[in-house]
This record gives sequence, structure tokens and C-alpha cells, in this order.
Amino acid sequence: MPRPRLTFVGTGYLGATYAVCFAELGYEVLGFDVDVARIAALTAGTVPFHEPGLTELLRRNLAAGRLRFTTSYAETADFGDVHFVCVGTPQRPGGTGADLSYVESAVTGLAAHLTRPALIVGKSTVPVGTAEWVERLVAKHAPGLGVQVAWSPEFLQEGRAVQDVLRPSRIVVGVRSEWAGALVDAAHRGILELAAAEDREVPVVVTDFATAELVKVAANAFLATKISFINAMAEVCEVAGGDVTQLARAIGYDPRIGNRFLQAGVGFGGGCLPKDIRAFQARAQELGAGEALRFLHEVDLINQRRRGKVLQLAAELLGCPPGPGGPQFAGARVAVLGATFKPHSDDVRDAPALQIAAALARAGAGVRVYDPAGMANAALAQPGLRFAESLDDAVRDAELVCVLTEWPEFRTADPARLGRLAATPLVIDGRNCLDAAAWTAAGWRYRGLGSRPADRAPAGWTALDQDDPAGRPPLPRPATRPV
Ligand code: UDX
Repeated sequence: MPRPRLTFVGTGYLGATYAVCFAELGYEVLGFDVDVARIAALTAGTVPFHEPGLTELLRRNLAAGRLRFTTSYAETADFGDVHFVCVGTPQRPGGTGADLSYVESAVTGLAAHLTRPALIVGKSTVPVGTAEWVERLVAKHAPGLGVQVAWSPEFLQEGRAVQDVLRPSRIVVGVRSEWAGALVDAAHRGILELAAAEDREVPVVVTDFATAELVKVAANAFLATKISFINAMAEVCEVAGGDVTQLARAIGYDPRIGNRFLQAGVGFGGGCLPKDIRAFQARAQELGAGEALRFLHEVDLINQRRRGKVLQLAAELLGCPPGPGGPQFAGARVAVLGATFKPHSDDVRDAPALQIAAALARAGAGVRVYDPAGMANAALAQPGLRFAESLDDAVRDAELVCVLTEWPEFRTADPARLGRLAATPLVIDGRNCLDAAAWTAAGWRYRGLGSRPADRAPAGWTALDQDDPAGRPPLPRPATRPV
């Protein structure tokens, strides 16, 4: 079978990355979106979000003539043999299930313009049962044309999306006919050829619709569970006097457990894991298997508690009094380093860093936020917050520094230099990403998440701060706040 022509319907984060990478693999590609500004930007060679390496590939493939973008369904239908549906499936307003309205309008908009056999491949993360529903939509809006449906979930991570598309860990496809299987195979051949050229193998799992849909949400549920598991251990370490970083390292040496996704801290955020575990629970409930996923509710709760932990710790360290709705920070100057949900991304959706910054500000702290890539999106999401021009600007005169996204710029910053800028060398490492020994040696009072609070001696002890190698007593409470 010759290489099919591909379209990507929805050029958000997922669709734009796929369109560019498949053009890079040599396919003729057309990207579609209803958003005129987005299509204009992509056509002009501008990636409307932060993703390392993508701009260069976009420009190269536009110039090579393999990649174009459009806002016309008619043109899209006419161009493609295989149409990948890459639109968002956000959380339903006021609910926990997935909103499929974008999938519906993409499929019906496309199907209404199809005039010949084609394959529609769902890539969006959806509740199990969606592929069958899409088949019914296609039968209604493009009857008798031989248009078929397949489902092929994606597993790309923001910040390393180009690699994840070109060199995926696996390809999963749900199909119902040999013809669809052959077409999907042809559409992915470029990935397999690249792997062969690099002497790698990419496992391919061909399965039914339900399994293909479930693979995606099951993978995300597992990853979220792994993070919440280690954060639950962090909670125990905090009261028992253990160190979760060492604990994670020690359990991670067991190959059955593995050491990835065991980084304790402020928890997971972003546009996928939080909403996907809620949508998965809602769907399981609808199917009568709600009990099977009840643990995901706990995974979510553990994750939410991590955000509160930073506020609690900040109040404790600054000596701020508790208020009726939580601690009151009465003007304490706090630098929040990080706004995005993870480094190498400008995405602030459900970002722990930004939520904590906003909560500190609401509780009366004078917060200054700095993020290397997420400031524009953060300012849109939280217009009331104050943003600093640079790392130094954020830290200058701060009484507390909170590192909440593990950007390399923060991890590699010189703690001695920052210590001279801060009013008080006090740092909460919300991602356990700093070199604690170096920061402490530079004079900082360092506090990671998931170890015993440095100011609190174990029960029965009356000694000075046990975690401080210099044996200094706890910091005096800042004079600016009532005690
Ligand atoms: C995730 C899945 O990893 C990906 O396979 C899927 O396609 C989309 O959802 P992404 O949202 O890009 O990808 O982020 P990911 O790298 O998974 O991180 C999610 C969150 O978990 C981030 O906030 C990150 O900081 C946090 N995290 C990750 C931890 O707190 N600890 C860890 O050990 C790992």
C-alpha cells in the first residue's frame, strides 16, 4: 500500500505536534483547525505553545512543501486518506466526566464533507465506548461511502513530545477490519522505518476498540497512582522522620517497581493526569464498575493535599498565625519559582505551582512569581498575581523562596548569590530538586517535602533544630507579622 495522505483534525498541542512530526517522517500532511489565528500562526511557521525542537521541524517541513494547514473541512476531507482526530476532551463543566463535544463536531464536520472511502483514527483521550459512538456518527453523516473508524491513543509527554511521536514506546491500535488495519499500518510505517534504521524496535499492539481506548486512561491512572503513592509515603515520612527521596531511590532499585515517576513533591498537574483520572472514574461508574476505581479518588485527594502542605509549611516557617480558613500571611514576601505544571512547558493548566502562588496571595502574602516559559499563560490564568522579570528579581528581598517547578534554571542557580539577594535565606523545595547540601552550605534554611520538618524535634526531644547541621535554633519569627 502506498503512503496515505494524512490529516490532523485539531492542531492544539497534540495535533500540531503529530502533524509536524509525520511530515518530518515524509508523509504529505494537512493540519486542520477551526481556530483561524492558530492556523495562521502555524502557516507562518510559529508554534503557538512551548515545545522544544518543534519550531525548527515545523519550518523545515513547511518549506519542503509536505505540510500545510487549513480551516476548511472540505479541503481536509478532499486531501486525506487517513484523518487523525486530535481535538481536546476537557473535563465537563461542573462534572468529572469528559466533554466530547469537540470530538463530535470534528467528526461530523469532517464526515459531512467526505466523498470517498477514508479512515478516521481517534487520538483524543476518551471514555471507553467513544469509538463505537464515532462509528455511529460516521454512519449517519457519511453513509455508504466506506468510511471506517480506528482508535490509536497517544502517549506523548509535554516537553519531550517530538521524541515521543517520532520514537514512541509503543503503537496501540484498535481496529475492526483488515482494510482499516492495513491503512493504519501504512500510516505508521514511517515510525517503524525510522526505528529499524536506528536499530530499535517499536512494539505494535493491535486490538479491539475498548482495549485501545482503555490503554490510554489505564496508563495515565497508573502514572498518577505511582506519583500519589510516593506522595503518600512523603506524608508518612514527614511525621515519622523518614526521607522520601532516599526511600524512593531505595524502592526504585527493584526492577519490578522502577525509579521513574517516584519524585515526591507538590504533586501532578497539567491537562491530562488530573482530568483523566476523574473522567475514568466517572465512566467506570456509568458502566457499573465504579468500585474498581474508587482508589483513584484517593489518588486525587493525596495529590490535592500536597498543594495545601506547601501553605502549611510556609506558615510554619514564617511563624504566621492560623486563620479561620487557613494560615494568614499578613504581607510576608514570598518568591514562587515556577508556574507551569512541569519544566520545559508553558502549560499552566491545573499547575500546582500557580495554584499555590494564588493561594498564598489570597492568604495575604506578597507573592512574586517567576517562570522561564510560563509567565504569559500564568498572567492570563491568574491576572491578580505579581510576576517578576527574572529569577533574581523574584528572590530579591524575599522572606521565603518556594521552588515549585523543577526548571534547570532553578536547579543550577548559585545558592550563595541568591542568598545575598533574599531578605531571609529560607527555601521550600517543593520538588525536592535542589542540592540540599549546597543550599545549606550557602547559608539557606532548606526544607524539602517528605522529610521531618527541620524545626520540629521528634516527640520527647528538647534539642535545637535537629536537621540543621550547624545546630542553629529555629529562625526567629519575622518582626513584620503578628505572632
Ligand atoms: C502525561 C503522561 O505522562 C503522558 O503519557 C500522557 O500522554 C499525557 O499525560 P504530561 O501531562 O505531559 O504527560 O506530564 P507528565 O510528564 O506525565 O507529568 C505529569 C505531572 O506529574 C507533572 O505535574 C509532573 O511534575 C508530575 N510528576 C511527574 C511528579 O510529581 N512526580 C513524578 O515523579 C513525575
